[in-house]
Amino acid sequence: MAKKVLVSGGAGYIGSHVTVELIGAGYDVVVADNMSNCDMTCFEGVKKITGREDIPFYQIDCCDYEAVDKLFAEHKIDAVIHFAAFKAVGESVAKPIMYYRNNLVSFLNILEASKNHGGCNVLFSSSATVYGEAENLPVTEQTPRLPATSPYGNTKQMCEDILRDVVLATAGGADGQGVVKGIALRYFNPIGAHPSALIGELPRGVPNNLVPFITQTAIGKRECLSIFGNDYPTEDGTCLRDYIDIVDLAKAHVAAVSRMLDGKMKQDYEIFNVGTGRPVSVYELVTAFEKVNGLKLNYKFAPRRPGDVVAIWADTKLANEELGWKAERTVGETLASAWAWERHLAGK
Ligand code: UD1
Repeated sequence: MAKKVLVSGGAGYIGSHVTVELIGAGYDVVVADNMSNCDMTCFEGVKKITGREDIPFYQIDCCDYEAVDKLFAEHKIDAVIHFAAFKAVGESVAKPIMYYRNNLVSFLNILEASKNHGGCNVLFSSSATVYGEAENLPVTEQTPRLPATSPYGNTKQMCEDILRDVVLATAGGADGQGVVKGIALRYFNPIGAHPSALIGELPRGVPNNLVPFITQTAIGKRECLSIFGNDYPTEDGTCLRDYIDIVDLAKAHVAAVSRMLDGKMKQDYEIFNVGTGRPVSVYELVTAFEKVNGLKLNYKFAPRRPGDVVAIWADTKLANEELGWKAERTVGETLASAWAWERHLAGK
C-alpha cells in the first residue's frame, strides 16, 4: 500500500508543488490548510496536473489540536511535511505574538499528534535565514546559526530545535510513545512555477519577494521594480542569493521523505541545505528575466532594504550525496516559468 504523507499548508506555493511531486512519486497525500494566505487556485491546479480529484483536503488550522488529532485518527499518516506558517519577515517584526503563536503552536500540535498516533516522520520547512550574515560562504549545514533578526527567522530556528528535542525525547519509543524522526530542509530562495503554469506563487497585496515583484512589474500590475541597493561589496553592487527552482525544491522533499520512509536516515534528526550552490546577483536575475522572456523591465536602483544580508548561497554537497538530489532547472527556465505563471493569472 502506498505510504501516506500529510502536507500541512499544502494549498500554498511550496506545498502545492510538493503535493504534485509526491503524487507523481506514488505517495498518497492528505492536504491540510487553513487558507489564511491563499485561495483554492493552487489546490485546483494540483488536481488538474495530477488528474486526481480525490486528494483528501482538510480546511483546518493546525493551531487547533483537536482538528489535527482528528485528522491523524482518520488517516494513518506515515510522514508529515509541515509548511503551515506565516512567512512575512516585516509583518513578523510588527506582530511578533501572532507569529510566535501561529508558527510554534501549529508545529507543536503536529509533533504532539505524530507522537500520540504511533510515531511519525516529520519534515520541517526551514530557511537559509537561520544562517544570517554568514562569515564564510557557501554555508554548510555546520555553519553556525546566528541570532535571528526577526521573529519569523526566530520561529524557524526554534522549530528546528523543537523538532530535534522531540526526536531525542521519543527515540527508542520511551514510555510507549511513538517515535518521531525528523528532517529540516533549509531552503535558499525558492522561485518559479510549475511548467504547466497551473500552480505558482500567489502573493497577497504588494509582494515582498523579488521574483513576484518582477513578474508583476512586467505584466503592468506594478509600475517599477526597485533594486534595493547597488553599493554592496559584490561585483555589480547588488545582493547575492541562491535562487532555487520550485520544482527542484519540491523534488528535494520527495527525496527527503523517501529517505525517512525507506529507513535510510543516518541520524534520527538531520538537516539539509536546499539550494543550487550558485550565487546570482539581483541585477543578474533581472537581466536574465529580460533576456529569457524577451522583454524590458522597468526598474530603478533604490536604497538598501533594512535587514538584507549581502550574500548567501548554499554548499549543497550533503543534499547531493545523501539525498541523491540536485537542482536541475536553469535560472532561465525558472524565470520563464515564473513569467508563464504570471501571464496565466492575467489570462494572457
Ligand atoms: C526573504 C527573507 C527570508 C525568507 C525568504 C522567503 C528577508 C531578510 N529574508 O529572503 O527570511 O525565508 O524571503 O522567500 O526578508 N529585492 C529587490 N527588490 C524587491 C524585492 C527584493 O531588490 O522588490 C532584493 C532583496 O534586497 C534581496 C533579493 O532581492 O537582495 C531577494 O529578496 P527576497 O526575494 O525578498 O528574498 P530574501 O530577502 O533573500
